[in-house]
Amino acid sequence: MTEIARIALIGDLHGSWDDWDSRYFNASDYALLLFTGDLGSGTRDNGVRIARSLGRLAKPAYVMPGNNDVRHAPEIAAEIGHQRGLFALRRIGAAVKAGMHMPLSGQVRLCGYSVHPLELAGRSITLLAARPHALGGGDFSYPERLSSSYGVSSMEASARRLRELVESAPSEELLVLAHNGPSGLGSAATDPWGCDFRAEAGDWGDADLADALAHARKLGKRVLAVIAGHMHSPTCGGDARTWQLRRHGTLYVNPARVPRIFEDARAKYRHHAVLEIGVEARGCAREQDVEARGCAREQDDEARGCAREQDVEARGCAREQDVEAREQNVESVVVREVLVQESE
Ligand SMILES: [Fe+2]
Repeated sequence: MTEIARIALIGDLHGSWDDWDSRYFNASDYALLLFTGDLGSGTRDNGVRIARSLGRLAKPAYVMPGNNDVRHAPEIAAEIGHQRGLFALRRIGAAVKAGMHMPLSGQVRLCGYSVHPLELAGRSITLLAARPHALGGGDFSYPERLSSSYGVSSMEASARRLRELVESAPSEELLVLAHNGPSGLGSAATDPWGCDFRAEAGDWGDADLADALAHARKLGKRVLAVIAGHMHSPTCGGDARTWQLRRHGTLYVNPARVPRIFEDARAKYRHHAVLEIGVEARGCAREQDVEARGCAREQDDEARGCAREQDVEARGCAREQDVEAREQNVESVVVREVLVQESE
């Protein structure tokens, strides 16, 4: 069993993707690639060109359509589907020649208002893909497109659909992929989904997504991570945006470093983030929790024999270790940024 599943999180592309990236990710040990969308910057050429390249990836991948992908969404979907089919046929052809069995499916999928069961690090985890094309700021953006493609025509209907998806997830643990992040994570321009282009606008996150996450918590589902872009880093003011945040046991990640490909005097860099999910995180937490309780009991006994002050100290120790255990459980899911140099 793989002890750690490594998942590449690739933020808004805005044209910053080419065959070098395809070769790099195909040769990597990532179990899965997740894209937050905005393949191009609204022009047919770069959006469809990048969809063509993504469709040829040999890794399992999910692509969330962004607001910049709306105008050419049918072509992008067709291109990814077509390339995925061609890729599968080539694999099957090679397998037949080699006398091997190969699954009759490609690897890369557009997603949105959908759930996808996964096995990662021996854990059953459901990827929940939220509302496509999200513009944020409280808007139910592109209602015609969402109505015709997904049968969802208002923010209320979107919240309802997302809650239903949470309920339909076959596992207790979830990963969530969206284009824009949830509301409730800060209103400063540098917060993960804070508005940086209109100072007074504040929190630019989406309420339907926040509602779905609260619903998951209420049902006892564990949301390991929420991955979304749309609000870029650096901000319009040139500041670095907070790109990861842990809240209520969930890791929130905004990997949209735009431009994704950039250079300085020394080298050319390509940005993504890597999410690592460990195995048996709960067991680890439970063991440490038991250990913490044992320590409390011992110190408590000692305290009874001596003084009330020591009792208080013992309880403090138990509380601290209990909190530490919980945090270590949460930290079995970690994320870090990666800057790949082209020479690598
Ligand atoms: Fe974007």
